[in-house]
Formats: sequence, structure tokens, C-alpha cells
Amino acid sequence: MKEHDVIIIGAGAAGLMCAIEAGKRGRKVAILEHNSSVGRKIAISGGGRCNFTNSDTRPENFLSANPHFCKSALARYTPQDFIALVKKHGIAFYEKKLGQLFCVESSGQIIQMLLDESAAGAEIKLNCTVKSVLKDEHFRVETNQGALRAKSLVIATGGLSIPKIGATDFGYRLARQFGLKIIEPRPALVPLRFGAGEAEKLTALSGIAVDTIVRCGKASFRENVLITHRGMSGPAILQISSYWQPNGGIGLDLLPDRDARELLLDAKSRKIELATFLGQYLPQRFAHAWCALYAPTRLNQISDKDLRLISEQLHDWRVKFASTEGYAKAEVTAGGVDTRALSSQTMEARSVRGLYFIGEVVDVTGWLGGYNFQWAWSSGFSAGQYC
Ligand code: FDA
Repeated sequence: MKEHDVIIIGAGAAGLMCAIEAGKRGRKVAILEHNSSVGRKIAISGGGRCNFTNSDTRPENFLSANPHFCKSALARYTPQDFIALVKKHGIAFYEKKLGQLFCVESSGQIIQMLLDESAAGAEIKLNCTVKSVLKDEHFRVETNQGALRAKSLVIATGGLSIPKIGATDFGYRLARQFGLKIIEPRPALVPLRFGAGEAEKLTALSGIAVDTIVRCGKASFRENVLITHRGMSGPAILQISSYWQPNGGIGLDLLPDRDARELLLDAKSRKIELATFLGQYLPQRFAHAWCALYAPTRLNQISDKDLRLISEQLHDWRVKFASTEGYAKAEVTAGGVDTRALSSQTMEARSVRGLYFIGEVVDVTGWLGGYNFQWAWSSGFSAGQYC
């Protein structure tokens, strides 16, 4: 049986970062990855250019049943630390918008950087399937490539999104095996799907993108919404999907920079279609299709009361959704290993000495825009100081 100091299961963003840091401490590290290559999600991220961090990362950009948990790791390893690493490797990057940093060339550069950093210490076993994990003094991990033993075991197997590139529920099963609780996983940063009635009603709007503020409960995001024949997508919808509850609705402010009531009351005597008038402020096709549904009439024929109702609807258009597009289309998985059972400094399970959980498998989910990688780097770094 092969002896190591640390076994990391999952060679994604968090696992590789943890391997780098544990290696720097002189720990003998093995990384077990069931795919034939490392970092598949890094490779496809950011449209192939990896939005590797957000320079304005704050704890408020994350969802968790335990919102304070992420603070310690995010403070210990910041976006600036990761940016320094990227610069050290001469990787060109740029800010796309809102602090979102992307590689100029390709995500592959981030993977290569992580491999170069960890090459000295870690033994990476590809195509490695874990059959069982047992614990006495050490963790004993039985794989298709033989048994390994180590005092520290780090679970970095990610969430359930995009099963076709290797996502599994391994981390949740292992957590349960050791008595840890799971916050029910759900697809997040995912397009939302209309129910049958809504789909039929809104089909004329499909293919249109609108700049809106979307709201769900206390959460709100201003970005584009893209209406499809099945539902809604685009950055604003992906963001709000993490807050959306099954069968619930969201509100869309279609005129975020204007006071619709004032606009409509000022123009109320004009003998033009409301759709033509709104076409000055909204994409024309959207204005016509939306008015055909809700107010197919001329401005001068609408009562003040109805104008007020229409303006309310323009600022809070309520749309109901039946479901998400599921894990096949979700960028991340919300929920995961309940952080109340973990140390926020080390990521170690309080009740199981030597067992660590890092990255997306943990119940910490970032917004769209580089936050999820930052969590992977920060949590991987933190565990790497102790495992
Ligand atoms: P990650 O999923 O990266 O790694 C887990 C590893 O464990 C994988 O290599 C997997 O094969 C392996 N594994 C799973 N089960 C196993 C088992 N039983 N045995 C052995 N190995 C196992 N985020 C962001 O900040 N910026 C972005 O641009 C994007 N873009 C993006 C695009 C798309 C299409 C997706 C799906 C996701 C993103 N994300 C993102 C999210 C980001 O990719 C994600 O949050 C991180 O990769 C999570 O890092 P982890 O290391 O936790 O899991």
C-alpha cells in the first residue's frame, strides 16, 4: 500500500490549489482524478478563457446556509493573491466588466500554471476510480489502481453540474458516510424554464435580449435577460436563478433608468400606439410583443389608472417559472456539505480529524463572474496550510 501525507480526491480548481500549498509545506501529496485529464471545468470555463477571479470579491457575493463561513478563507487568499500568481506565470488577462478577470488567450494557461506550481510535489493519478474509503488511524483509499494511505484526506470533487465532463455526487456520499450533513444540492447559475401556459403566452418575445433589473426576494441584479422559446437565460437570469425557488416567480424592471409613470403620464395625450412609444426605450420587437400581451392600445385611449398599472408592470413584470434547465446546463451547484460541520479556517470536518472539504462540494456558492473560482482557490489554499 502506498503511503502519502495527503490524498486529494478531485483534480479541479480547488484540489490543484490545495496540492500546491500542501506541497510547499513538504507534504507528500497524491491527487486522484477519475477523468483522463485534470481541470476539465477550468478548460471550458468563461467560454474557454476562464474568468479566473473577480477583483471585487466580497463575502456578500456568496450564498450559503451559513453566510459568514466563507469570510476567513476569502481573507486569507484574496483575488490579488491569485492575480499575482497569474502575473508570475506571464499570463495575459483583462477585465471584461464588473471586476471579472479573463485570460486573453485560453483557460489552458490556468491549468498549466496550476500543474507547473504543483509539479514538484504532487503525484497525479488519472483515470483513478475510488472504490471505498475507510478510516482508522489513517484514511485508507481503495482505488482501481491499488490502495493508498494517508493521515489527511481532502475532498475536492466539486458539484453536480455538467455530469458529462465528470461531475459526481461522490463528495456528498463521502460526507454522509462520515456523519456530515448536506444542504440539499440544487442547480444554480442556470437558465429558468417557463411552465406550459407561460411558454405559450411569451413565445412572441423569444430571441430578444433586454437590459433589466431582475428581482427575487431581496436579491437583485442588473444585466441582460435573454428570452428563449423555453424560458429565460442571460447573465441576469443566471444570477437570480441561485435565489429562485421552485414554481416561484421573479420580477423584471424593464425600464431601470426611467420613471415609467412619469413618462406615460407626460405622453398620455399622444395618439400613438403604446408599443410605438415604448419602442423608444425598449427593443422595438420586445415593446410590440409585450404590449400585444398587456396593453394593445393607443396612449390617448388609456385611463390614468391604467397608465399607472402599466407603469407598475413595466417596473415589476412578474414572470413565473416551472423549473430550471437542470444540472446539464447549470454552471454550479448550490448547497453541499453543511459548513457548520467544518472549520472555516482549515476546512477540516470538526468531528473527523484529517478530513477536509474544499471548493464547490461545500455549501458556498458564488455569483456569476469569477467568484466560484475564487472560492475554489481560497478554500483550497486554506486547507493546504493544514492538511
Ligand atoms: P471542479 O468541478 O473544478 O473539480 C472537481 C474534480 O473532481 C473534477 O476534475 C472531477 O472530474 C473530479 N471528480 C468528481 N468526482 C470524482 C470521483 N468520484 N473520483 C475522482 N475524481 C472525481 N466559475 C468561475 O468562477 N468563472 C468561470 O468563468 C466559470 N465558468 C464556468 C463555465 C461552466 C460551463 C461551468 C460548468 C462552470 C463554470 N464555473 C466558473 C464554475 C467553476 O468551474 C466551478 O465552481 C469550479 O470549477 C469548482 O472547482 P472545484 O475544484 O470545487 O470543482
